[in-house]
Amino acid sequence: MTDSVTLRLFRILTLPLLLIFTACSSTTEISEKKPAKYELTFPLGLDSESAIIPKDNPLTEEKIKLGKKLYFETKLSLDESISCASCHIPDKGFADPSQFSVGVGGKKGGRQAPPVFNRIFTLKQFWDGRAASLEEQALGPVQNPVEMAMPDIDTVIKRLLGDSDYKALFQSAFPPAGDITADHIAKSIASFERTILAGNSPFDHFQMGHTDAMSESAQRGYEIFKNEKKGNCETCHVGFNFSDENYYNIGVGMQAKNPDLGRHAIQELEGYQGAFKTPTLRQITETAPYMHDGSQKTLEEVITFYDKGGHANKWLNPKIKPLKLTKQEKHDLLEFLKALTGEISWYGKEKSSKMVSLKN
Ligand code: HEC
Ligand code: HEC
Repeated sequence: MTDSVTLRLFRILTLPLLLIFTACSSTTEISEKKPAKYELTFPLGLDSESAIIPKDNPLTEEKIKLGKKLYFETKLSLDESISCASCHIPDKGFADPSQFSVGVGGKKGGRQAPPVFNRIFTLKQFWDGRAASLEEQALGPVQNPVEMAMPDIDTVIKRLLGDSDYKALFQSAFPPAGDITADHIAKSIASFERTILAGNSPFDHFQMGHTDAMSESAQRGYEIFKNEKKGNCETCHVGFNFSDENYYNIGVGMQAKNPDLGRHAIQELEGYQGAFKTPTLRQITETAPYMHDGSQKTLEEVITFYDKGGHANKWLNPKIKPLKLTKQEKHDLLEFLKALTGEISWYGKEKSSKMVSLKN
């Protein structure tokens, strides 16, 4: 082979290679700007396989960061006094210690604010399950007259457009345009909410085989909780998040003249009158008062309520019957419920040394 032939061959071979190389490097440049997928760490006791992350809203650190700022943002309320965190308070188990949360202008609704941890594991939101996803739920409180009382989402968008911090955050969360839209606000808030996780409780350590993580009384309480002929609690408070995500009338608030009919207003199914979504029992010692109307102040009160067979009414779920537990059994059940309080983690919170990842 002559030198010139070698050179020509070299040129012929390298030209396409060079083209491929430049094409590749420019795509990597673009993908570098694209927000990277965020890997959540799950506290002990939670099943990462059960996490629900919609295909059109994958978790990215950029969206989570933006969603976190929005979660604490009082500009989302009419008089700029209230944020999501005013009613779902991080220090209070992401719930509200008052029976009915106070919204803009001191207004109150008729339901208790549930905790917003472990929401990644379910689609349906609210006591009556009326929102089909966290994305759908996120803008509800903003326009609710007894919560944040904004006239419409456009007013929220206008406020955020006037803030240069938000311009930059939306830009990096939703490149290239970074539009501030209702959809993007909802997707970001939902992404942050998916990072709020409660686990790592004495019960979870007990389940891992550390028998001394729960007292003997709590261990007996667990048996009562599961036993169909005793507490029969697990029939509804089932799985690692202690909820079957179904709706039951257990009699709460049914003595009222015009009781809140709960799920029935959403789905007119017989038996759904006065039925509410089974709540999680994690962090239960931190999220008093209890029930959809916050009518029960202590866990002792809740146990007494179940022991009596709930509150009689024509739609009472047949699974709710008098339990006739002894004083000791009630005490044991209470000790078990206490063992369900571990710790809550969320994006940006310093991880405690106790945290154990299930994923890695
Ligand atoms: C004024 C108090 C208040 C504010 C502000 C508020 N919430 Fe709520 N939130 C509630 C109440 C009360 C409920 C229960 C309402 C119902 O079930 O009908 C609720 C329910 C929820 C739920 C459903 C949880 C479950 O277990 O089903 C989520 C999620 C939630 N809120 C997130 C948010 C977000 C995000 C914001 C901010 C955009 C927000 N909330 C602002 C009081 C508030
Ligand atoms: C038939 C299903 C069912 C059974 C059985 C059941 N629960 Fe519940 N539980 C619910 C529902 C539904 C609610 C919410 C009711 C409401 O607010 O109207 C609830 C609420 C609670 C709450 C309050 C949680 C909160 O955040 O407000 C506690 C605590 C609780 N249950 C513990 C128990 C214990 C302990 C047992 C067994 C003795 C038990 N439950 C049996 C369905 C059930």
